[in-house]
Amino acid sequence: MIYLDYAATTPITPLVKEGIYLFLNSGPANASSVHQAGQAAHHILSKARSQLASIIHSKEKEIIFTSGGTEANNLAILGFAQSQSHDKTQHFITSKIEHASVLSAFEYLESLGHEVTYLSPQSSGCITPDSVAKAIQKNTALVSIMWTNNEIGNNNPIHEIAQLCSDKNIIFHCDAVQALGYEDFQFDHLNIDMLSISSHKIYGPSGIGALIVKTRVPLKPLIFGGHQNWNLRGGTENLLGIHGFQIALTELESHRLEDKEHSERLFIHALGLLKNNPKICINTNLENRSNHILNFTIKNIDGESLFMRLDMLGFAVSNGAACSSGAQKPSHVLKALGKSDEEAQSSIRMSWGRFSTIDEINSFAKALQNIID
Ligand SMILES: Cc1ncc(COP(=O)(O)O)c(C=O)c1O
Repeated sequence: MIYLDYAATTPITPLVKEGIYLFLNSGPANASSVHQAGQAAHHILSKARSQLASIIHSKEKEIIFTSGGTEANNLAILGFAQSQSHDKTQHFITSKIEHASVLSAFEYLESLGHEVTYLSPQSSGCITPDSVAKAIQKNTALVSIMWTNNEIGNNNPIHEIAQLCSDKNIIFHCDAVQALGYEDFQFDHLNIDMLSISSHKIYGPSGIGALIVKTRVPLKPLIFGGHQNWNLRGGTENLLGIHGFQIALTELESHRLEDKEHSERLFIHALGLLKNNPKICINTNLENRSNHILNFTIKNIDGESLFMRLDMLGFAVSNGAACSSGAQKPSHVLKALGKSDEEAQSSIRMSWGRFSTIDEINSFAKALQNIID
């Protein structure tokens, strides 16, 4: 198989696998237990917290481990909304191109009677600070805009949007699940109040992620139980996942520059192979892009048979977010960009990473050309 679906999930590195294996063989571990085994578990937890804090320049106290990006997004949006006065209708701003975990959380808030503005992207696929500014109302409580879009790979002007929200005293949440490892995170210097990240997009195990929250942000837990995660997320910590995440983060640090250069090289190469084909229309914004995702539409082709043929030939690519590709629904992101259902269905998201090669991209482009022909 040629795996070009890193935006869905990344392969676990040998070092992470080895670390997880050693952990599994090291005996029982509950970081809340007071005996020596518990202390050893607590040490693993603290090490992961401190590693993550140093990579994203946050305080350890600002880190809440979650079951992944989905839970981090839910906790940011619903946990914040629940901390606010219940007798007032609040207003929220997000965009039409967010991940389903953000959109569904806002739909839930709407069902409770709150008001949500869903911003449309520009034709370039980005959300402008101007559109955020225009949508702000007196009762706007929170803005949630993603950093890198998981389907088209565009980067939103996050610094400007964060500054705008800070100037207006509005809490700003950013889904940075696709940006970790590709963009520079200086949480202490950003005006972002809450940031969601996930381990399985950076070569760690799935089922673990984090919400990074400035301590001044009011938040109510969604999961009640023990005192874990500063009383904001009850339940015995997923130490296996946290340990794997920590190893992946450590590797990420040492590969940062190399990874960035590699993905840019692959992006330029793939773009060069596809962009002059009259049957192909590139959907990724070439100005504000993360270099690991390239999305394009193939004109006048049946999407279903296209993906079936690619799969039969051994290519793993996607036509949207992992979950919507499973459901075979046209991508809501491409629809927000003005694509028809048919165009959205015949669009491909290629995404790559540390272990991808130029040869794999060449094989894919060749196979695609054969199918188009
Ligand atoms: C932008 C974005 N947000 C959130 C998520 C959800 O993360 P997780 O799979 O860890 O729940 C994803 C996963 O695809 C994503 O790409």
